[in-house]
Amino acid sequence: MGRVEGKVAFITGAARGQGRAHALRLAEEGADIIAIDACASMDPVQYAMPDPAELDSLAKEIEALDRRVFTRIADVRDGAAIEAAAKDGVEALGGRLDIVLANAGVWAVSVDEPTDPAVRRAVWKTTLDINTTGVWNTVEACIPLMIAAGNGGAIVFTNSIQGLRYASNHDISLTAYTASKHALVGLLRCTARDYAEHSIRVNSVHPTGVLTGMINHEIMGAYAEKHPRLGEVMGNILPTPLVDLADITEAVLYLVSDSGRYITGVTLPVDAGALLK
Ligand SMILES: NC(=O)c1ccc[n+]([C@@H]2O[C@H](COP(=O)([O-])OP(=O)(O)OC[C@H]3O[C@@H](n4cnc5c(N)ncnc54)[C@H](O)[C@@H]3O)[C@@H](O)[C@H]2O)c1
Repeated sequence: MGRVEGKVAFITGAARGQGRAHALRLAEEGADIIAIDACASMDPVQYAMPDPAELDSLAKEIEALDRRVFTRIADVRDGAAIEAAAKDGVEALGGRLDIVLANAGVWAVSVDEPTDPAVRRAVWKTTLDINTTGVWNTVEACIPLMIAAGNGGAIVFTNSIQGLRYASNHDISLTAYTASKHALVGLLRCTARDYAEHSIRVNSVHPTGVLTGMINHEIMGAYAEKHPRLGEVMGNILPTPLVDLADITEAVLYLVSDSGRYITGVTLPVDAGALLK
């Protein structure tokens, strides 16, 4: 018997990276999956985003595990679209919703610091809209369905070590990212308190660097070269520069399965000790 056998999980940012890894592992552990992704560029974010074929291939991999899957291309900034995706997905998969992974996020890093005020405003707004309001939209869409299904449930926000500390660098992308992730800690605590009476638990994982499309691109390489001090500040204390996708997935699985049944309101770093630097 899998650790989340018979449950239904709603996952944003599922087409690739951490969301995809979580979707596949939860399916292996017996869950049916509602997989959401925008699969579109997120201007002014400069690195490439996944295309719809990546969401389709995820669906095929989940079906090959003998689990049901519902996919929808939707942007977490569009609350009505996320609400419709959650309703349609839950209906298609039998009426229950047990697990929500609010995972979609961006870091609008650029090699050269933007000086055009319009670009700076766009970086700030896009980052906060996706990383913070997108999570709130996901919570708003999913909690009524979880309450209606009456099985309690578990929500996990994918935060970051930048949600628990700062590494300022006169860098609008890092400032906006840090602010967006700090805001999620407040959202987490209020949501955990408000819905505990429905046996809905709300926690967050705070990864250090994970090698995904968010950081594994040419802009990031040039940015890191230009800001060597930042690399020192942001490094881990355990002897590894990065953690693996599976390390984050394992923490998520712990929080959403019975192993975490009395854990709520927790901000769990998976950071190779980075927060102790
Ligand atoms: N990679 C890291 O080093 C790292 C470290 C700490 C935290 N995080 C956080 O992990 C989460 C997942 O990122 P990842 O590392 O898997 O990166 P990723 O870029 O590989 O995946 C992010 C996914 O989110 C989707 N997405 C982006 N904007 C969206 C939107 N508006 N609506 C719907 N989907 C959208 C993308 O299409 C993509 O599939 C993010 O919240 C990120 O902030 C990443």
